[in-house]
Amino acid sequence: MKIINHSSVNFRNLKDVYIEPYEKMNIIFGENGQGKTNLIESIWMMTGFYSFRTRKNIQLINYDSPEAVIKTNFFSNGREQEARLVINQTKELTLNGVREASPRAMIGSFYSVVFSPVTLGTVQNGPSERRKLLDVALSLMKPNYAVIMSKYIRVLDQRNSLLKKTGQKGFDSGYFEPWDAELVRLGSKIIRYRTDYIARLSEEASDIYGEISSGKEKFACRYDFDTENLSDDEISEKLKNELEKSRDSDLKRLYTGSGPHTHDLILTLNDRDAKIYGSQGQQRTCALSLKLAEAVMTEKVTGEAPVVLLDDVMSELDEKRQTFILRFLDNKQVFITCCEPSTLLRSKDGKVFEATDGIIKEMN
Ligand SMILES: Nc1ncnc2c1ncn2[C@@H]1O[C@H](COP(=O)(O)OP(=O)(O)O)[C@@H](O)[C@H]1O
Ligand SMILES: [Mg+2]
Repeated sequence: MKIINHSSVNFRNLKDVYIEPYEKMNIIFGENGQGKTNLIESIWMMTGFYSFRTRKNIQLINYDSPEAVIKTNFFSNGREQEARLVINQTKELTLNGVREASPRAMIGSFYSVVFSPVTLGTVQNGPSERRKLLDVALSLMKPNYAVIMSKYIRVLDQRNSLLKKTGQKGFDSGYFEPWDAELVRLGSKIIRYRTDYIARLSEEASDIYGEISSGKEKFACRYDFDTENLSDDEISEKLKNELEKSRDSDLKRLYTGSGPHTHDLILTLNDRDAKIYGSQGQQRTCALSLKLAEAVMTEKVTGEAPVVLLDDVMSELDEKRQTFILRFLDNKQVFITCCEPSTLLRSKDGKVFEATDGIIKEMN
């Protein structure tokens, strides 16, 4: 998968940007507040997911304009494709001339992996950040996962409303049965998808971690809902039991406190929790390994190498890690933002763009 050209009109401070990126390395440099992350974000919007910075359309549109328009020509699934996303109160996507019902229609056509300083905190952040990492990656690779996930969230919202209604009035367990059955049915599918993915992700990330750290520690990750040797029916049974067990406390807290929306991805170094025992440098290497493994997995599962977006991370990593990343991503299209391109970055074959006050200019 490669971006051939990309334009952003009235997307944040990018009033009228058009670029023709190189098929490999693209460096975007400039001072703070010039539009580097905005450009990365406008490329990410083509995945059809929410921005990694906001869920609010209004923030994405230039202050002086009623709407933002992003257009990308890209090569994937063996052909050239064109996507146009108009953002106003809603988002309207046209893919290859066909108006789609939702930007989610990009899933299966456009692949990307984004990496920002927030990603470097994956280990230290709360479980919701790690679930998001899983959910976005899995939705991109397995479109059906996104469908099941959104159904699950809908049923969960309904069950939570029911808890709020019945919580005050006393409780009849019969009320909950239809919602619980649906949560278990969808939840066990989510768990199966996640555990299968995590098993493969762990292997890839472990190899990468080993290369970066010269094999001193063993990195692994696992899901905190143990499914080892369990059949699908047994997973459902286990989930059902957890839901029943947590019902009393759910009624007190008026919130469903068990299920995949509460699960965590546990990261370990030599079998010890990296969140508790890892040094800051080790934790960053864990996060880096996970993200690079995600890029590898996306390519293995979909057959398309994702476009890799590295926002502001290079300067936070030492030269050894930077060199490793550049070598690792050598066959992919990469966009790297930085304040001042280092000699290491400049030594690579690629294009360089300068961002100044919302204008992106290609340098010679
Ligand atoms: N909706 C918007 N309309 C116009 N400008 C915006 C909007 N949202 C953010 N900005 C501006 O974009 C700039 C930040 O751009 P960003 O890409 O994050 O900078 P950097 O180059 O440091 O990555 C800031 O000057 C901010 O005021
Ligand atoms: Mg930035």
